[in-house]
Amino acid sequence: MDKTIELVNGVKDIHAMPSVIVKALNIMKKPTASMKELGDIVMFDQSLTIKFLALVNSAYYGFSQQISSINIALSLLGMVKVKNIIVAVAMKPMMSNAGDKELWKHSMRVACGCEYLANLTKIMDSDEAFISGFIHDVGKIVLHMSNDKLYAKVLNAVENGLADVLTAERKYFDSDHVKTGSLLAKRWQLPILLANIISYHHAPSLSSIPVPCNLVCFVDKLVQPVFVPSSIDKDFVKTLGIDFEDLEELRNVIMQKSEVLIAELS
Ligand SMILES: [Fe+2]
Ligand SMILES: [Fe+2]
Repeated sequence: MDKTIELVNGVKDIHAMPSVIVKALNIMKKPTASMKELGDIVMFDQSLTIKFLALVNSAYYGFSQQISSINIALSLLGMVKVKNIIVAVAMKPMMSNAGDKELWKHSMRVACGCEYLANLTKIMDSDEAFISGFIHDVGKIVLHMSNDKLYAKVLNAVENGLADVLTAERKYFDSDHVKTGSLLAKRWQLPILLANIISYHHAPSLSSIPVPCNLVCFVDKLVQPVFVPSSIDKDFVKTLGIDFEDLEELRNVIMQKSEVLIAELS
């Protein structure tokens, strides 16, 4: 059997997406979807309700008045943001249980960065940018869950500059997070945009929709623990209308913004 299929099949918990995500995505697919249906998901789960209230009152969204009603909170955020937050919160245990507490945080940083830049440059819809950034490394969950100790070796090799992440994963797992993620996207029947992000965020030019893949690829590099300016595609930065010299500052803005959201949703 192909190694990627073997790895994905071997991780039992990942076969079914958490039901709350499935519910949220299915409601959004219906043309008659209403905020009430989405609100019902949130209100059914008390911890989600508390998180949404904390979030709308946080500096991240910056609404001027104090909001104590969950219905008002949801209508202020809007349906797509509510769906994105449900997904980000619901996938947190899956990403943290994978043994890599940093994976959820990294995903949130890329999500916030993509949302921020999409708002600033209008190169894509900002809500789609958020979920694109959030989901990009989902294949890493499979590798972590199948062998946590082995994945520690991957991280070690990357940290010590011995190999890039995909090369190290292939060495230890005979597969990589792009391959496992692409298979998950197929099994979960994720939308084409998200499947493309997962498959091409390390090689955006190969995608049929390169702009969103380039955005995720760029932000992914920008928010790494150690920022390496030479890793950035200068031509893409130019298309965003951003000066290369300003990247350090942009990184700081994105890091600060995402810390607010991470703290509220933790
Ligand atoms: Fe990746
Ligand atoms: Fe990443």
